[in-house]
Amino acid sequence: MRTDLTFTIIKPSAIRKNFTGPIIEMFNRNGFKIVAMKMVHLSPDKARILYEVHKERPFFNDLLAYMTEDRIIVAALQKENAVADFRELIGKTDPNEAAFGTIRKMFAESHKINAVHGSDSNENAEREIGLFFSEDEIFLKN
Ligand code: CMP
Repeated sequence: MRTDLTFTIIKPSAIRKNFTGPIIEMFNRNGFKIVAMKMVHLSPDKARILYEVHKERPFFNDLLAYMTEDRIIVAALQKENAVADFRELIGKTDPNEAAFGTIRKMFAESHKINAVHGSDSNENAEREIGLFFSEDEIFLKN
């Protein structure tokens, strides 16, 4: 299993507020190489698959409605120790708990409207990247 890849989503509200550029700059400034990226509209069916692990949670339907209401940007990012380092860069799920300097502290509004997603394990990074990108859409040199 690779440990140098993670998957991210820039969420609808962050795109609407024109935070896309500053967020991508944070990826790059912190050593993440963008190896695949595209803007898509997430279908309800795909959102259900993406967030399968949360299906019993009380916020599940709300989360699906939010993630499908507008465009999202999905990307695969490469860096050594990608999953843990990226989670540190984005900060805690709730921006009120996120550390200063993290992406969520700077650009998120709430638990739900939290600007970006980051994979929580190498397994999930591989699964999530595979949901959105075929092999020929990812640029990997090694
Ligand atoms: P994300 O990293 O995309 O993974 C699951 C998402 O569920 C999370 O970001 C939040 O957007 C959302 N989420 C988690 N907890 C809550 C909550 N208590 N209320 C609303 N949304 C939540």
